[in-house]
Amino acid sequence: MKKIILQGAMDIETDIFIRKVQEMPQYEKIEEGGLEFHVGTEKDRQFIVSVTGMGTVQAAMATAVAIERFRPDAVISQGTAGAQLRDLSVGDVVLVEEAVNINALSMPKKQEGEGSDPFSWEGFHTEYYPADPALLERISSLEYPYGDARRGKTATGDLFSREADRILWLAEKFHTCCEEMETAAVFQICRAFGIPCAALRVISNNELLGDAFDEQTAARLQEHIWELARGYL
Ligand code: 5AD
Repeated sequence: MKKIILQGAMDIETDIFIRKVQEMPQYEKIEEGGLEFHVGTEKDRQFIVSVTGMGTVQAAMATAVAIERFRPDAVISQGTAGAQLRDLSVGDVVLVEEAVNINALSMPKKQEGEGSDPFSWEGFHTEYYPADPALLERISSLEYPYGDARRGKTATGDLFSREADRILWLAEKFHTCCEEMETAAVFQICRAFGIPCAALRVISNNELLGDAFDEQTAARLQEHIWELARGYL
């Protein structure tokens, strides 16, 4: 039996998947540690929809629990992200080549009264976690019909950046094109367990252009990934 985990942090990032697995011949909902897993089975295939919750800790926990419990063949991490570039529009998709944790930063010493300069901070033990090359090829093989798609690096952190200068600084420092809160944590855990994983992120907001969060983007990405998961994974 081939088992694929489909993750999303929020309800708007998992609602369509959940509806799809509920329509499969066999369906079961499992709850553990405050996490929800919606398991749909047909013939030789099982899709496990995991509602991870937001942030790196939630994503890491959900990934570790899912791997231990379901022993999946692949993990697909997906959801919304903020653009760090002006030429990434709301609705475009990033096929993640590498994810980097941008929470870990170190700073030059300053004495009391010398203030704080976040632009002088450096990455602390910065590590880039790659997507599984074969899975990345497969998720690239179906054209994204609702916007442009490109490969790129994602910046994962427990923050939602809305300062233009900060966003541009992060992109330059880490060579990333979008920001979200889960992917690097998922990739790190999958690497530790030797489970192939890939990630797609749809641009839901572009603070550089003043484009606010568009929830519809999350639904379109799920529709696309469902097509992918059924035919290409
Ligand atoms: N910055 C950080 N996270 C974002 N997300 C969407 N846009 C952004 C952004 N600009 C995603 C995160 C998190 C939720 C807030 O949506 O992955 O789960």
